[in-house]
Amino acid sequence: MAHKLNIFFCIFFFFFLHQENISTSHFLHWFSSHRPHFTHKELTTEDVMFSLQWDRPMVSHWNSVQDSSSAKQSTVSLDRPQSRYCVGENLDVRVEMRDHKGQVKRHGGDFILGRIYSPKLQASASGLVTDHYNGSYRVRFTLFWPGDVQISVLLMHSSEAVQTLWRSRQLNYKKIKHTGTFVSRNKVETSECGFQLNTNQSLCEYKDERDGEYYACYKPASLPCDSIDTMSSANTPGSALTNDEKLLLTCDNFFKKFIAVPLPLSLSLSLSLSVVTPYKGLQKCIPGMKSPIPSGYFFGSRWFSSSCKTVNFFDAESINSCLKGKRIYFNGDSTMRQWIQYLNHFQKDFKSLDGTGFSSMIIANHHSNFTIQWKNHGHPWITVRPIKIAESRYISRDLDSIKVEGKEEQVVVVISVGQHFRAFPLELFVRRLLSLRRAIQRLQTRILGTQVFIKLENTREFSSEQERFSDWHGHLQNLAQKKVFGDLNVGFIDAWDMTVAANTFRVHPSEAIVANEMAVFLSYLCHAP
Ligand SMILES: *[C@@H]1O[C@H](CO)[C@@H](O)[C@H](O)[C@H]1NC(C)=O
Ligand SMILES: *[C@@H]1O[C@H](CO)[C@@H](O)[C@H](O)[C@H]1NC(C)=O
Ligand SMILES: *[C@@H]1O[C@H](CO)[C@@H](O)[C@H](O)[C@H]1NC(C)=O
Repeated sequence: MAHKLNIFFCIFFFFFLHQENISTSHFLHWFSSHRPHFTHKELTTEDVMFSLQWDRPMVSHWNSVQDSSSAKQSTVSLDRPQSRYCVGENLDVRVEMRDHKGQVKRHGGDFILGRIYSPKLQASASGLVTDHYNGSYRVRFTLFWPGDVQISVLLMHSSEAVQTLWRSRQLNYKKIKHTGTFVSRNKVETSECGFQLNTNQSLCEYKDERDGEYYACYKPASLPCDSIDTMSSANTPGSALTNDEKLLLTCDNFFKKFIAVPLPLSLSLSLSLSVVTPYKGLQKCIPGMKSPIPSGYFFGSRWFSSSCKTVNFFDAESINSCLKGKRIYFNGDSTMRQWIQYLNHFQKDFKSLDGTGFSSMIIANHHSNFTIQWKNHGHPWITVRPIKIAESRYISRDLDSIKVEGKEEQVVVVISVGQHFRAFPLELFVRRLLSLRRAIQRLQTRILGTQVFIKLENTREFSSEQERFSDWHGHLQNLAQKKVFGDLNVGFIDAWDMTVAANTFRVHPSEAIVANEMAVFLSYLCHAP
């Protein structure tokens, strides 16, 4: 262990010395404040932040947008091209990054996404991007299907833009303004709420001591703190960015430009048809199993996991018979609500939808004897529509209150959080994940056999305001989720990987994607219809 760590830090040090703008004292300061805590068994926020050190931006100096990575100037080429590729083989693509002046970049940190796809076959898969930290990148694809394959590599953000996003994110909690509405009898008052308010005024503080959760509102004019009824939010007008930083995030400087493969842009691969398809004979999907990247691929618009056997759960009969006798909880944001809305299509005879539909929904299928409940997660929500405080508890509290009635009944929980956290410092999200981790452990100890799933964040629109909602924030949050939940007995539904493969970039993926996410989930739950 010690030996391993020595090597690790040597490499780390070596890297920093090559960054001209980082002084040794800066490094030592950084190191001492990010030292891992070996003596604590319980995973801490610092541990998780430390584990992401290679994925957080490295500080490098730049003077103008001209110094930032340019998709147009950079090159993508096939590594060791072959005349023939076989299904199951890897295909490596090398990205050599240059700035707008055409100069070779000497450090890493660019945010790149890669995919291979075959439109005629409705097939696609993401690639695994490896940063060599020297301006070159490897994007590794797995050739899952035979046929003509095209490659696309997308520079989502230059490393300079990524630094900018990180700086802005970590700077403050105030990129979103929350407004609380207090109601008592016929009186209504509003006041500003947030994670960090100026303490010069009287505050109403809402704390969850056990889980370390906190937010506050300025005390309303006359009503008491506990009369808080709803919360809404809006983007704050100011930006934390300089004009140059803003330029880095304008359309011209991110996502729009594909890095052209200088070889034929659309690469035709002659693939051997005789090779056994890789998904044949795969093991059952079992919670706790490791999920590789890519975690699967689309073929004929159906998603096949690369590590376990996905089953065709696409019709009412197979879906409802899988859910039979189960008590199912979907906890999380509106992408989780999409799941219950999707399942509602398959409930013909015995449905009862409950709740406002904005904070919670319930399906009870008496015929197949199952219930599904969706509940939103606790603060923060980013929405102009007021959210009922009483109806949006922290998920950890919701998990604690789960009860089973019959001995036979099986509890199933799916959690999806992330999109509403992108605008706040990463520590806030990590803290939430850690309290979820503890709640999952408590639940699985209390109700044996409880199955828990984590649905990762999917990608969203390019038109989303990048400073607050960039997919780079989502990427980092997904890495944090894998770190926090990776060693638990949970199953992952990698919505990120699916939406990168499908090139959707929609915060609410289409029903076709949701159907495939659901099929992965049910494949863990039931193995066969
Ligand atoms: C960057 O690092 C990779 C992996 O170590 C290496 O193959 C490549 O040649 C390096 N590129 C440059 C420009 O040094
Ligand atoms: C808070 O109050 C102190 C003392 O009255 C004052 O010096 C300070 O400027 C105030 N801070 C803000 C942000 O208003
Ligand atoms: C429904 O499921 C519960 C728990 O599995 C069981 O106790 C109950 O008897 C079932 N009811 C019917 C009608 O099958």
